[in-house]
Amino acid sequence: MDKIVIQGGRRLAGTVAASGAKNAALPILVSSLLTGAQCTFHDVPDLVDVRTITRLLADLGSHIERNGTSLSISTPVIEKQEASYDLVKTMRASILVLGPLVARTGRARVSLPGGCAIGARPVNLHLKALQDLGAEIDLRDGYVEAVTKGLKGTDIYFDTSTVTGTENIMMAAVLARGTTVLKNAAREPEVENLAAVLNGMGAKIRGAGTDEIVIQGVQSLDSVEERIIPDRVEVGTYMIAAAITGGEIIIENCEPTHLEALTAKLREAGVAIEPCVGGITVSGVNGVSSADITTLPYPGFPTDLQAQMMALMTVGNGISVIRETVFENRFMHVNELMRMGADIAIDGNRAIVRGVRQLQGAPVMATDLRASASLVLAGLVAEGTTELDRVYHIDRGYERIEEKLSGLGADIRRVRE
Ligand code: UD1
Repeated sequence: MDKIVIQGGRRLAGTVAASGAKNAALPILVSSLLTGAQCTFHDVPDLVDVRTITRLLADLGSHIERNGTSLSISTPVIEKQEASYDLVKTMRASILVLGPLVARTGRARVSLPGGCAIGARPVNLHLKALQDLGAEIDLRDGYVEAVTKGLKGTDIYFDTSTVTGTENIMMAAVLARGTTVLKNAAREPEVENLAAVLNGMGAKIRGAGTDEIVIQGVQSLDSVEERIIPDRVEVGTYMIAAAITGGEIIIENCEPTHLEALTAKLREAGVAIEPCVGGITVSGVNGVSSADITTLPYPGFPTDLQAQMMALMTVGNGISVIRETVFENRFMHVNELMRMGADIAIDGNRAIVRGVRQLQGAPVMATDLRASASLVLAGLVAEGTTELDRVYHIDRGYERIEEKLSGLGADIRRVRE
């Protein structure tokens, strides 16, 4: 298994470009199942999760061609309506094929995603909404089976804001008869990006990006060509990297309006963030003070940046209270950060972080994608060597992270084993 080895203590400087967003690419690639026509997407990141979803699409009958960062997909015929456990178990987002398969073929059988490191993460809201649209749902042998003689538009209320739930049902509803209204829909930019793709295919969706999305069903969809939005979590991670090392960097290919919650918090902590030609400049040269954080659905502070922000707060000046409200078990990075000398106490869903003067490098273990990013950030500022094990977690969501960080002057390398 690969390791990432970091010698801490270098201030970052220079320019880095963010890749396309993983969480936009996954549903958008899946949306190609809704049409037999060719779909072309640009700025598709080359990540393990993206390869997993293309393997799943190929298994269902899609023809896929990659040309640089562009991907063309066509699925003239759905050859299989089943997503097997082998493919779904490594990535929960595979559940996204459920809506499109049912909408296009009237039937789908998808393995239920298991529990995962950051909490139970059920898919009950996806299933209830599909039932509301007229699908019969059966849970058997660890699989969910959905069948319908034709989906029918209706009003759907999501008990909790769910990102992939909103995307799954939006994709099902575009081919339903009549109008569907999604209430308490997720407002994430990735949902908007998916709606733009679907509208490009000929769907009629209004209100994506707000909590009420109205979808007027159409009979069929056509080809589309669209770009994946920049990865706001990757951008945010590099912003925090500049702050934690006391460096100053330019980040290109980013959409600052997608990062307002993080920008406000970093500014509160003393980090300077300014727009510049082609991106933003982030400077942590004046040091970092503590700030309190509560994770929330968009436009609140993203849970996908909580671990990285906690790494920053471990060396902030003062005490920071970090509250995780989206997932119930998303503090696995805490023990590893403490092994590097961080002072953190956990009280239910709150972490109380007292800034220390210096972290110490240590061998640490990645437990999930964003937790591993937080350990890399801690390693950048720690004294001595940090060795991060189980790097496959980080490869799921960060494109060439060691290359991008060493381009900014970090002493970081991958050791292949
Ligand atoms: C997506 C993102 C993930 C991010 C998360 C929250 C993708 C591929 N992944 O995950 O990176 O951390 O949004 O921003 O886009 N819930 C239920 N029942 C359901 C669905 C969700 O109870 O049927 C709960 C979850 O357990 C969680 C909360 O709702 O507590 C939000 O989860 P959700 O928005 O669905 O996360 P994902 O879409 O899985």
